Amino acid sequence: MQLTPQFIREQLHQERVVTRNVEYVCEHIESWWKNHDLCLSNHALKLQLISLLSLTLRGDDRYYFDNVGKHGISAVCFTGIFHTDDYYLALITHEALCELFHLRDIKYPYENHKALFLKPGAEKYRDWGNGYGEITPHSDDLYETQPTDLLALTVCRDKTRTPTQCFLAKNVTDHLDNSELHQLAQMTAVFRSGKNVRLSKNLERKLIQYDPTYGIQLHLDFRIDTEVGERMIATDPRDAGLIKNIRQGIPSWTPVYSAATTGTFFILANHKALHARPIINLNIGVAANQAQTTKFRETPRLLFRSKGPRHNLSLEQDYGNYL
Ligand SMILES: [Fe+2]
Repeated sequence: MQLTPQFIREQLHQERVVTRNVEYVCEHIESWWKNHDLCLSNHALKLQLISLLSLTLRGDDRYYFDNVGKHGISAVCFTGIFHTDDYYLALITHEALCELFHLRDIKYPYENHKALFLKPGAEKYRDWGNGYGEITPHSDDLYETQPTDLLALTVCRDKTRTPTQCFLAKNVTDHLDNSELHQLAQMTAVFRSGKNVRLSKNLERKLIQYDPTYGIQLHLDFRIDTEVGERMIATDPRDAGLIKNIRQGIPSWTPVYSAATTGTFFILANHKALHARPIINLNIGVAANQAQTTKFRETPRLLFRSKGPRHNLSLEQDYGNYL
């Protein structure tokens, strides 16, 4: 596949973020949660909720379960799913929706990725999910060999009102002329892990690739980690200037915002759109103080996160000759 600038632009111009208010399921979920059997395991509760969501969500909302990353749908935001600020309800709802959206979460032994909240010392860090400073547009886990196709976040509580930002890929490409976009499509970079993990990992990748099912796939990470520095380093030093120019243009990009409200589920195709977060909407002194409070019931901003490949339940891949 020849990735010409024109082809890349045409493909990426169809992309969008879909936001759906699904508060019509809220009453059903709240009622189920109020009456749920306290003896049930998390897994059993997740299965109950999957069933409830399958029955109560309308077909035009269920449609998105199978289509994140396809048909121009870079991301989907469901709002109003539940309204009770309860971390246990938020976690079970998050896991149920991840299952429905085909997300197979990966837990790496060197990363605690599930809960996002201000951790002690947060005020000293930027470009870190548990930090206070802004998080620059990026895709997750580009230093990992396993694909991270999907990323999902569920808001349990956000007293700071700091929403996740999503940047469609055209924000990057629309600011480049054809020769720059051609250069971007040819180049490779080394992606490095940051403060998020307890070891150092890196992987070299092309920045733009094509997948027959999911179309153009972007590998971009503009974060500058407080501890390790740039997370994406051009393999050829002559390409470093282009990365620098794109990073300088980020303030002119137009984000789509998730909602910073309890009961919001946001899922994005990790290689279709970049995600980011403004600086936490708190005075830095207040943030430093509140970061000392790490109990899930008390921390001012608590999100649950999953990230990983899509579930693949197709037999054809390994058993094609037997079917
Ligand atoms: Fe991220």
